Amino acid sequence: MAERIVAWLYGTPVAALSRGPEFRLRLDWRPEGTERWGLGSPVLSTGLPLGAPIGPRDLRGLDFFENVLPEGPALARMAELAGVRPADTYGILRVFGRDCAGAVMLLPEGDQPGAGARSGYTPMTSGDLRQVLGSLDVAPLGAAPERGFRPSLAGFQRKALLGRSPDGTWQLPVGDAPSTWILKPDGPHQMAANEATCLLLATACGLEAAETELLDVAGLAVLAVRRYDRLPPPDGGLPGRLHQEDGCQATANPPGLKYEEQGGPALRDLAELLRNFGDPADLARLLQRATFNMAVGNADAHAKNFSVLHDPDGTAIRLAPLYDVLSTIALELKDGAGQPLQADTHLGQRVGGQVDIGKVTAASLVDEAAAWGIRRRAAAAVVSETLDRVLAAVDDLPGDDRVLAVIKRQAERVSQASSG
Ligand SMILES: Nc1ncnc2c1ncn2[C@@H]1O[C@H](COP(=O)(O)OP(=O)(O)OP(=O)(O)O)[C@@H](O)[C@H]1O
Ligand SMILES: [Mg+2]
Repeated sequence: MAERIVAWLYGTPVAALSRGPEFRLRLDWRPEGTERWGLGSPVLSTGLPLGAPIGPRDLRGLDFFENVLPEGPALARMAELAGVRPADTYGILRVFGRDCAGAVMLLPEGDQPGAGARSGYTPMTSGDLRQVLGSLDVAPLGAAPERGFRPSLAGFQRKALLGRSPDGTWQLPVGDAPSTWILKPDGPHQMAANEATCLLLATACGLEAAETELLDVAGLAVLAVRRYDRLPPPDGGLPGRLHQEDGCQATANPPGLKYEEQGGPALRDLAELLRNFGDPADLARLLQRATFNMAVGNADAHAKNFSVLHDPDGTAIRLAPLYDVLSTIALELKDGAGQPLQADTHLGQRVGGQVDIGKVTAASLVDEAAAWGIRRRAAAAVVSETLDRVLAAVDDLPGDDRVLAVIKRQAERVSQASSG
């Protein structure tokens, strides 16, 4: 069947996708994209330059679009709703993918953004909010095809994607109106307060982090983060979309390789990406971030928990704000029988050769930065300043006190431990 999906970026069709053999995607570039941004432009992805020849065995197209999808139960449910297998990226994106991370919109061929009957937002009551959050296992991401809302967003955790009016009222997106907030309710483990605490601490330390609020929805803790890939609405219009991609997309890796030990991108690869396409000052910011992650005890920093924002004219990228930062060492995990489980201290990306967050020291962070080509003295200054800021902010920060106590101990250990 000659049925295709068209990937749109800022109102311009850039690529047509069709079903390839064995769950592959066939990608055909659309001339409008290369006419607007030029052949080889990284505006969509640094890992997938516009117009790059994509042979039948080249998986870069599939890798980029597979990374748009969630993982785990949300993916399985979206596949079920689309009537296809979870491995069928094309089949899922045919149904979901109108509202994605960044500015990409995936639409059936023949359709175009904003062509639907109506796009906008419907205000929610507190009952509506409870209902959406309570239905995420059947309607992942708060998807509602009946009102034209067909979102996709990466990640394993349950999420609801919503709009919000200037007075703070939560809203249901209708048609092509972009979601502007991400809500992550607590599941079996208490993560919302932990993540809110870490993001607020990051901001207090002068790092750019996603704006966050911790909600109490009828006794359920919910982390709300404002989407940094959305732009304020022009007068009377809808909010805009600003393009972003994650570390797997930017380095042309499939989502299955988000962890370095699986063969995915290392911190050094992300540093190289910023050096090649971004602002050199972002290298120091990446080091601040890696230091912050170690200081708060976030072992789950992986390539999909790192994103870059693209300039709409396609010339530059910059580090996106920090998101999905959790003190994983502070998680109180339980097994199926309710017995306490030790938190995993294995790192998603090595730091100075270390694979366990319990072994990382300030010296490991300096070693890591040296491998990116930063001079050791400059690196040591960034690392110690970031650790000092965490230690200065941690005492007075309003947040989860138990998590803050774990962070304080971890940050002290990282800053005081001698290497080796
Ligand atoms: N504030 C934000 N603004 C825009 N995009 C965001 C924001 N927070 C997260 N994202 C995007 O959504 C994706 C999923 O978010 P997040 O990493 O928080 O989910 P998760 O399910 O906790 O992930 P994981 O599988 O790593 O546990 C991110 O990879 C990123 O592309
Ligand atoms: Mg994540």
